[in-house]
Amino acid sequence: MNDDIEKILYSKEDIQQVAKKLGQQITKDYVDKNPLVVCILKGAILFMSDIVREIDTYCELDFMSVSSYGNAQVSSGSVKIIKDLDVSVEGRNVLIIEDIIDTGRTLQTLVDLFEHRKANSVKICTLLDKKERRVEGVTPDYVGFEVPNEFVVGYGLDYLGHYRNLPYVGVLKPKIYSDN
Ligand code: XMP
Ligand code: MG
Repeated sequence: MNDDIEKILYSKEDIQQVAKKLGQQITKDYVDKNPLVVCILKGAILFMSDIVREIDTYCELDFMSVSSYGNAQVSSGSVKIIKDLDVSVEGRNVLIIEDIIDTGRTLQTLVDLFEHRKANSVKICTLLDKKERRVEGVTPDYVGFEVPNEFVVGYGLDYLGHYRNLPYVGVLKPKIYSDN
């Protein structure tokens, strides 16, 4: 599996460092706010588990699964809820944890939804920000790395369901795409 990777963009150590830094900022910003930390499945699971261990104040965790891409690399432009939250966001300070923001459509939809459901505040923490691809006016509040416009895998991010378990973020060899 590691042989399929052309280059590593962010190592396990790079990610750990950034998760620690962001966790400290989040801790400061959310003391006494009992945030509802929402993991966007499946891509954000590794980041979620690292970041919440760096949050040193009371918080609750919940999970939501949405689909915008299916199995392909191209955005379909619409977002479908596969699994909704277990708890109500009304009056809550919601912190969304995402793996990557690309066009911004997924997060725009979720921010609108949580606001419609009367959340007290909605903020976004993303490991990766593909800024140049943005079509919606979404601005994340906490960003790990600004990533170039390349398709990346690892640390939660997949290609055809694989590579989520890699401990780093990298770029696949072109051969992998042409074989599929
Ligand atoms: P939008 O366009 O709604 O997309 O901001 C966000 C979702 O798109 C997926 N995505 C990627 N997944 N490598 C991936 O494995 C990538 O380079 C990539 N770019 C976008 C991802 O699921 C994210 O939640
Ligand atoms: Mg995703």
